[in-house]
Amino acid sequence: MATDGVHTHTHTRTLKLSSSEKKAVVYEKKWRLHQPDGGWRCDLVCTHVSPLLLRWRFALLFAASRLAARVNMSGRRGALIVLEGVDRAGKTTQCRKLLDALQREGHRAELLRFPDRGTAIGQLINSYLEKKSNLEDHTVHLLFAANRWERVPLIKEKLQQGITLIVDRYAFSGVAFTSAKPEFTLTWCKQPDVGIPKPDLILFLQLSPSDAMKRGDFGNERYENRHFQEQVLRQFNELMQDENLNWKVMDASQCIDDLHQEIKSHTEKVMEQVGDNPIRDLWR
Ligand SMILES: Nc1ncnc2c1ncn2[C@@H]1O[C@H](COP(=O)(O)OP(=O)(O)O)[C@@H](O)[C@H]1O
Ligand SMILES: [Mg+2]
Repeated sequence: MATDGVHTHTHTRTLKLSSSEKKAVVYEKKWRLHQPDGGWRCDLVCTHVSPLLLRWRFALLFAASRLAARVNMSGRRGALIVLEGVDRAGKTTQCRKLLDALQREGHRAELLRFPDRGTAIGQLINSYLEKKSNLEDHTVHLLFAANRWERVPLIKEKLQQGITLIVDRYAFSGVAFTSAKPEFTLTWCKQPDVGIPKPDLILFLQLSPSDAMKRGDFGNERYENRHFQEQVLRQFNELMQDENLNWKVMDASQCIDDLHQEIKSHTEKVMEQVGDNPIRDLWR
């Protein structure tokens, strides 16, 4: 082992250290300074280590402290909260406000939105929605579902870590939009999403398409027209008949702050209730 003649002492012997080992000792000292318990874990792990293992000491401790940060110490999982509704009902506005409010109160919460345009599948969907490409209707439906499935491992991991997820659109939008097209049944449309994590709460922002239009004209994306949005609303109403799901219908015509207070209060109740309940499968 190359050494630069620097010596340090363990409890039992004098060691000659290489420069990388010397760096590890410096890091370790800094690390100990930041430990409330004076770094006892370090002593536990490192007493009597051989000089060859010394360079791994800091890396091991660092990995262990990262792991500890990922483990959910409360034993409670996070809640899966979904916001749904027709275009312009206020979903994105309310998701952001809810996230801010929960985080300000010290809760661990994060935001997800579907479609997630950041993945390879999401890019295909994006190009379709922006009318830059045309795709067959069944294919599009399956791509939307695949876009949710590709986030399922992340969703489960975050919930188990105790992080509450606020989700801007989920499978219900997927099903309502495709089943609003002629010749699609609700039953067929639900199948690809059977088994994704079941939301603990679905907040449906109820707004008539005519009121939604008053919030600004629909843009140029596919589906952004009043007739289609009315069909979508009908399909949402069908989905809301399912008593196995925790739907809460919100009056989305009220002002942003009042709606926010209602949404926050429903969410906090559900966050309390989930405890360590297992994450269930949707529509199974
Ligand atoms: N409760 C509300 N009252 C009036 N306007 C609203 C309300 N909520 C949202 N808006 C406005 O309506 C538009 C659409 O809101 P957004 O949150 O993007 O809807 P969505 O995500 O459901 O399509 C935005 O301009 C937003 O500022
Ligand atoms: Mg939105």
